[in-house]
Amino acid sequence: MKKLTFIITAGPTREYIDPVRFISNPSTGKMGFAIASAAARRGHEVKLISGPVSLKTPENVVRRDVTSAREMKKAVDAEIAAADKTSTVFIATAAVADWRPETTAPVKTKKGDRKTSVLRLVANPDIVKSVKGVKKIGFAAETGDAAAEAVRKCRSKNLEMVVGNDVTSPGSGFGTSTNKAVFVTKDGRVLRLPLMSKKRLAGKIVRFTEELFP
Ligand code: PMT
Repeated sequence: MKKLTFIITAGPTREYIDPVRFISNPSTGKMGFAIASAAARRGHEVKLISGPVSLKTPENVVRRDVTSAREMKKAVDAEIAAADKTSTVFIATAAVADWRPETTAPVKTKKGDRKTSVLRLVANPDIVKSVKGVKKIGFAAETGDAAAEAVRKCRSKNLEMVVGNDVTSPGSGFGTSTNKAVFVTKDGRVLRLPLMSKKRLAGKIVRFTEELFP
């Protein structure tokens, strides 16, 4: 088995409105940390770029913490630039906020007498789409059948595989220790997996990755 470098994003990002309020999502990092742990146990080099989570760093994993999508992109770009492109895979499990407030207030915004307030958002960069020169595996967090959207994301983001998960299915998605996933590959294979621990699913993703580097 060839020794690979795994660059993995995990957890949520936070997009601050002011110093005490932010836009985010319920990702806990469990899925991404499970992949990092599985890859390290198989003897691979692992660089984990994590949004704000409360998980311990798995053994033999180099971790870098970030807060916002733009910080996450900067950290990923630096790791990709330094990587040996022939033996590196980028796995995007992070739930990156697609949008951020156009401006972040420097002090806490007062409610005053206003009954409504408008928050103007701008699009964040798509991290996995922007990464070039290495093999990439993405995730698709869906509310409903994940396979169709996974096929679309596999093409549009130029991925080797998308791990689709229905985040409304019981025991699946955000914060759970289990996940029900569908693997959709670049060459059109669709593999529907039963509900299983994120640890076991992580092992399957790592083995799929190893097969990409014969
Ligand atoms: O962390 P846990 O609590 O264990 O939860 C796991 C999970 C539900 C977060 C995980 O299984 C999952 O589905 N991760 C992807 C979440 C997501 O943002 O999906 P998406 O369909 O919005 O994005 C598609 C892909 O593009 C993902 O690989 C994502 O990391 C990537 N992306 C999205 C937006 C963006 N600006 N940059 C990106 O790189």
